[in-house]
Amino acid sequence: MSLPDEPARLELYHVTVAYGGQLALQDVTLQVPHGAQVAVVGPNGAGKSTLFKVLVGLLPVQAGQIFIHGRPLGAHHDCVAYVPQREEVDWRFPVTVADVVMMGRYGRLGWLKRPKAYDRAIVMRSLEQLGIAELADRPIGELSGGQQRRTFLARALAQEPHILLMDEPFTGVDAATQETTMRLLEQLRDKCVTVLLSTHDLNLAATHFEQVILLNKRLIRYGSAEQVLTPETITETFGGQVFWLEIHGGGQRMATASHCCPPEPIDSTKRR
Ligand SMILES: Nc1ncnc2c1ncn2[C@@H]1O[C@H](COP(=O)(O)OP(=O)(O)OP(=O)(O)O)[C@@H](O)[C@H]1O
Ligand SMILES: [Mg+2]
Repeated sequence: MSLPDEPARLELYHVTVAYGGQLALQDVTLQVPHGAQVAVVGPNGAGKSTLFKVLVGLLPVQAGQIFIHGRPLGAHHDCVAYVPQREEVDWRFPVTVADVVMMGRYGRLGWLKRPKAYDRAIVMRSLEQLGIAELADRPIGELSGGQQRRTFLARALAQEPHILLMDEPFTGVDAATQETTMRLLEQLRDKCVTVLLSTHDLNLAATHFEQVILLNKRLIRYGSAEQVLTPETITETFGGQVFWLEIHGGGQRMATASHCCPPEPIDSTKRR
């Protein structure tokens, strides 16, 4: 099925996911509009990665429904790209950086699955966008953590997605990779690509994302950062693992997860 031209709307209705008998997501209902950039925030074990895996079809739902472009999940599965959390990848896999990025094209190759010049050009462009073109022939296992992260971002770009799911892209990377990722988010915003990005960093969520999902197995709150990030909802999401910081530059207090690095005070004027 050919993809619609417009960016994707994403809808979840009463989505429940379990591993064995253990619930990981419970009755999650939310609708993400075209081209929104959404921070997905919650403590360890909140179900953030589970949500993303469900959206790319790696995990089945136990109950509920998911629609992309108004059609059931699966009809347009190629339009959802996923950058996994670092721990999810087997870095010993014997493939080069260019091989990994070409994997992003597989869903769009013809039935012979043979890359054409056009696919190779997109792979090269994605590598250049992430600043790793010179690493194209290196095995991924030999790269630094930040270079590996850029490789998976390049793979996602090469897929030309309508929805991009980024699982903790800012964890364990240096300032340069963080900056590259931020620039990438701006480019994706210009192209109206819908982005869901999981993070433990409430400061980042408040300053760089117009919308925030607070998750702890169930949906605590979804909406604008101002609406969602309140002391009550943060405490409900993170329980006792919080400490307080100043937000919006003006004496208001709020909390962040205690296992994060202490953030800079939030300055809402920095929001893009
Ligand atoms: N393969 C699995 N088998 C069994 N249980 C799992 C599996 N993967 C995740 N879980 C459980 O599902 C719940 C949600 O896990 P998930 O990885 O989605 O959380 P998360 O919000 O991504 O956490 P983190 O911030 O640590 O990455 C946890 O209780 C976890 O132990
Ligand atoms: Mg996770």
